[in-house]
Amino acid sequence: MTVRRMQDEIIRLKKEKDICILAHSYQAREIIEVADYVGDSFQLSVKAQTAPQDTVIMCGVRFMAETVKILSPHKRVILSHPDAGCPMAEQMDVDLIRQLQANNPGAATVAYINTTAQLKTVCDVCVTSSSAVKIVRNMAADKIIFIPDCNLGAYVQEQVPDKKLILVHGGCPTHAKMTEEDVLAAKKAHPDALFLVHPECTREVTKHADYIGSTSGIMDYAKKSEAREFIIGTENSIAEHLQYECPDKKFYVLGRDLVCHNMKLTTLPDVYGCVVGTAGCDIELDGDTIAAAGRCIDEMLRLG
Ligand code: 13P
Ligand code: SF4
Repeated sequence: MTVRRMQDEIIRLKKEKDICILAHSYQAREIIEVADYVGDSFQLSVKAQTAPQDTVIMCGVRFMAETVKILSPHKRVILSHPDAGCPMAEQMDVDLIRQLQANNPGAATVAYINTTAQLKTVCDVCVTSSSAVKIVRNMAADKIIFIPDCNLGAYVQEQVPDKKLILVHGGCPTHAKMTEEDVLAAKKAHPDALFLVHPECTREVTKHADYIGSTSGIMDYAKKSEAREFIIGTENSIAEHLQYECPDKKFYVLGRDLVCHNMKLTTLPDVYGCVVGTAGCDIELDGDTIAAAGRCIDEMLRLG
């Protein structure tokens, strides 16, 4: 089957079977073209709540599909590839968080949305890259344990200096690969380009940024900007999508292997298999986990 034919079949079948396809912006172009909604983690969480369909296929990684299930427990939620996990989401365990809480009485616990549903059950509120600063600023607590991404946490701390954030040593392996040397070399090669970067990068990288934001934030900024050239400091698919959508502008990446291989596990045939019913995996969470993790995500939607 050709790519075009497979896409047409997916579109036909999803309508026939009342399926909503959500895709994170790190997915490949041919998947994005068959999705009902594409966005960053926060936008996908909001869409998950309002989508009218009874079945949702999440083309992304496991914590994103779990978020959909937590927000809509009555829906069937299918993760596009059973092995697509986010390594950062599994870097901590519940005991470690409880220990941090015991050592810091009175502190609230903020979980980046890139965490398992299990971890969210012992936290107070979730944040995404696009909502973290606003939510931390709006929280009543002055002392905050922030898990698991210390780069995002350090960025939030800078933006909200009146609160005390307690950080742990965690983060994204893909963004951790980007170095200050990469940035300086890219800026030297493209002196007129603006540098747009994700807050999961280290401070050495983000300190050179013209703009720091989520995947959607970076895309919106580049599309609206009067500038013609951009260096993109996040997973390379964002530069690819931008180049496709803005052919009159130029987009440069910081390195060739800045790829999230978990996000890229999902292929168009996987999505086709999900709508046919032969691929993907159903997300199952018990009622207690849904209730406890749900409080954390509801608080994010309320404050963000
Ligand atoms: P966004 O919320 O910015 O899309 O980030 C998700 C993610 O996993 C970035 O690596
Ligand atoms: Fe997780 Fe990093 Fe991949 Fe995002 S890019 S899904 S944080 S491993």
